[in-house]
Amino acid sequence: MAGIEQVSGANLPLSTHIKLPNGVEYEQPLGLFINNEFVTGKASSAFEVTSPSSGKVICSVHEAQAADIDIAVDAAERAFEEGPWSKLPPAERGILLNKLADLFEENLTILASIESLDNGKAIQLARGDIAGCIGCFRYYAGWADKIHGKVMDVSSDTFCYTKQEPIGVCGQIIPWNFPLLMFAWKIGPAIACGNTVVMKPAEQTPLSALFVATLIKEAGFPPGVINIVSGFGRDAGNAIAYHMKIKKVAFTGSTMVGRTIMKAAAESNLKKVTLELGGKSPNIVFDDVDIDRAVEWINFGIFYNSGEVCSAGSRVYVQEGVYDKVVAAFKKRAEANIVGNPFDEKTFQGAQVSKVQYERILKYIEIGKGEGAKVETGGEPLDSDGYFIKPTILSNVKMDDRVMQEEIFGPVCTIAKFTDIDDVIKKGNGTNYGLASAVHTKSLNTAIEVSNRLKAGTVWVNCYNSFHAALPFGGYGESGIGRELGKEALKNYTQVKTVNINLA
Ligand code: NAI
Ligand code: MG
Repeated sequence: MAGIEQVSGANLPLSTHIKLPNGVEYEQPLGLFINNEFVTGKASSAFEVTSPSSGKVICSVHEAQAADIDIAVDAAERAFEEGPWSKLPPAERGILLNKLADLFEENLTILASIESLDNGKAIQLARGDIAGCIGCFRYYAGWADKIHGKVMDVSSDTFCYTKQEPIGVCGQIIPWNFPLLMFAWKIGPAIACGNTVVMKPAEQTPLSALFVATLIKEAGFPPGVINIVSGFGRDAGNAIAYHMKIKKVAFTGSTMVGRTIMKAAAESNLKKVTLELGGKSPNIVFDDVDIDRAVEWINFGIFYNSGEVCSAGSRVYVQEGVYDKVVAAFKKRAEANIVGNPFDEKTFQGAQVSKVQYERILKYIEIGKGEGAKVETGGEPLDSDGYFIKPTILSNVKMDDRVMQEEIFGPVCTIAKFTDIDDVIKKGNGTNYGLASAVHTKSLNTAIEVSNRLKAGTVWVNCYNSFHAALPFGGYGESGIGRELGKEALKNYTQVKTVNINLA
């Protein structure tokens, strides 16, 4: 399966001791986490977990297959229907989320280190991810007891009201680029609203979620409320998407798999679907900017998290009058990024997540060259055993070129000229995606006009990749359905019941 080795789980223990490159030592759980216990998979299968910065296997984890998903769903359903969870006052759910946030604070170094080990991301960025998780849990902890219905005054002889009820067992399928942050974005609102969860981490990065399982238990979540099942998409993921007892599925990942999730929901029980998919987001620089400041943001926009970001500013558009200056400054800035060992505190860009992803990115660079792109900088790997790619800027790219239209999901961006607002709106909106976008200008009028006309779920003005738990995030077009974060996400995890009482 796509570069990840399946192995026997028959003699695999349920945990192992890991010593990280930065000296941090901890006990890594390896089992499936169901009903607050670590267990082996029914098929006694496991798969290898690789460190992308060395290319070496770290350990193996037990693999969930369809039969294990059934067991996890039954546990989650029991917790939802009959367990202590079903009677817990909403405020208590908030207290549990806050306890989980406390435990993330206490374990910040271990959590960030596991992310760097398993995903390859720079440790300084991994710490930011954990801070984002903590912010997300605390934000939704605050919502738990503020999710109310309404009273509707319809006539003098009726009493009508609505309730916002939880949906039930939620299947959550997350990707490998932000293993814990995506976990938090999914768990936070699902739990605040009173649902129970079967979570499948990405097969490339299962370790941090399994460590968090121990914190979930320690925080005091009742058994079955949060279940974590490591496994492959085509097997465990597919079983979640088709499951008849899962009432809602939330997915973050590729647009292609997003389509199959939606189809699976339609072909099974019409479970509610939210999708956070790919992007090819425009990052637009007008000629009135302070060039150094704008270049900081276009650099951060594409090279943050090694370019493995759904919202990455992968298409940079620069107004013609400053184009040459911006290209020169951006090239210099990109070459100054420190790429390499994720555990080095100075590193900004670590390894790509896997050999598959690394090869996919390098292939895209070749495709771009074949289409006539000029490599302004980068365009090749670092000389290393790990999966490192130099920050890459491609110019001379046409609108229809594949590198301008398709998500590369690596440290590669295109840069192109525009003349005026009409021109850049046409270019900016010229893909099927619509996740994010940005405009850099000193003019308030330009900023607002461009923000109004861009077809994207987020517009950043004079910044990029700036997130907050209170701010909704999601896609227009083929970038997805529904919004994560903010009050918006509560809609994904509740359903409205109308009660109409005849008083006559
Ligand atoms: P993917 O979409 O295959 O994987 C994401 C998650 O979906 C993983 O947990 C995977 O196990 C699961 N999955 C895969 N097939 C499934 C299926 N048939 N049913 C249910 N679940 C399934 O993404 P992949 O292959 O790892 O990366 C490919 C491309 O996807 C990337 O190059 C990037 O363009 C895009 N991507 C976008 C992300 C985002 O944040 N929007 C995150 C990860 C990837
Ligand atoms: Mg890994």
